[in-house]
Amino acid sequence: MSEGKPEIPQHVAIIMDGNGRWAKKRGLPRIRGHQVGADSVKAVLQACRKSGVKYLTLYAFSTENWIRPKAEVLGLMSLLSKFLRDQSHELHDNKTRLRVIGHIDDLPAAVRRELLNCVAETAHYTEGTLTLALSYGGRVEITDAVRAIAEKVKRGELKPDEITDKTISQHLYAPDIPDPDFLIRTSGEQRISNFLLWQLSYAEFYFTETFWPDFREKEFLEAIEVYKNRHRRFGDIK
Ligand code: FPP
Repeated sequence: MSEGKPEIPQHVAIIMDGNGRWAKKRGLPRIRGHQVGADSVKAVLQACRKSGVKYLTLYAFSTENWIRPKAEVLGLMSLLSKFLRDQSHELHDNKTRLRVIGHIDDLPAAVRRELLNCVAETAHYTEGTLTLALSYGGRVEITDAVRAIAEKVKRGELKPDEITDKTISQHLYAPDIPDPDFLIRTSGEQRISNFLLWQLSYAEFYFTETFWPDFREKEFLEAIEVYKNRHRRFGDIK
């Protein structure tokens, strides 16, 4: 992820959907869809670097995903560990910072440790930022922000009439990351499913029928082309 060209979105957020259906279509276990989906994560991260997208935020595990069968949840957690091990070099080589948003205290201790190590080791990089939303829910994020603001009011550090939309933004999980310019959702679903509810206010949305395991560099670049055209029309006075 290098210096962004003006027509390229600075921040792309993705709802990676359709792993299960991709596997089902091939008569494979659902976890196979997630495994191949992890390869799509690597491909899209690489495509961001090549095309100049600086921030990539991925919905990797929602607060709602905990109700899935235990074996699938464990499978996703071990895929996450594997991804961190596989990608550690890449993140360093490309000076990419890893961040996480969500209630990561809910994750198994070993995965949480690996995650926090990787976050700490890459904290000084500024070339690009990969943010993983894990045990994440948009409403919970806003609720957490409101609670933190209420505490400040209670302590007398803030007056209610001083609270603006900026105050809310500043109390979200990653206040320094710019809002996404572009949201991609794969697999034909057209919902935002509790993802970045506050931050997506002005984002362009792109929905594709492609299942996440099939979403690679080519598909990503096609989406970016759509963004560029929409963006140009947006500024057109004719
Ligand atoms: C949605 O597909 C996908 C997920 C709930 C998990 C996403 C995880 C990965 C892409 C792999 C691991 C991630 C990282 C960062 C290494 P679904 O299971 O809901 O698909 P379906 O709607 O077809 O059932």
